[in-house]
Amino acid sequence: MTPQLSEILAQVVERPPNILKALLALQERLGHVPTEAVSDIAHALGVPAAQVAGVLSYYPDLRLTGSGRHLIRVCMGESCYANGCGRLLRELQDRLRVDVGETAAGGKFTLDTMSCAGNCAVSPTVTIDRDLYGRLLPSQLDTLLERYK
Ligand code: FES
Repeated sequence: MTPQLSEILAQVVERPPNILKALLALQERLGHVPTEAVSDIAHALGVPAAQVAGVLSYYPDLRLTGSGRHLIRVCMGESCYANGCGRLLRELQDRLRVDVGETAAGGKFTLDTMSCAGNCAVSPTVTIDRDLYGRLLPSQLDTLLERYK
């Protein structure tokens, strides 16, 4: 176990253990949950490694690989789908020259999708890091991306 992982686990472990909360806290600090650390995480939480691996594989919000400096996520839920998220996703893929799950050259942006972001009333929704954008049009993407450069 790396000293960094050990330090983070010491801060996030609760009794009784909350696996999802601990994994989300790790991801918040490291940018992803390293799969090679599953047994160390399980040991720190006092649970079987299979339980940690199960939670890790079940929740799509948990990232197994690192992301670029900014994580762009396009909501693919029903409301967003009905309001043009597919076109937004294609435009972002073209502009960034990446596919879903990939990081653009230079490491600035990672593109990903998500299920409903709870922002349906103003869909389609895109998040960049912790920022939420609704009623987004493809014509607004250049201006939006410029804010994060
Ligand atoms: S479906 Fe996209 S915010 Fe709900």
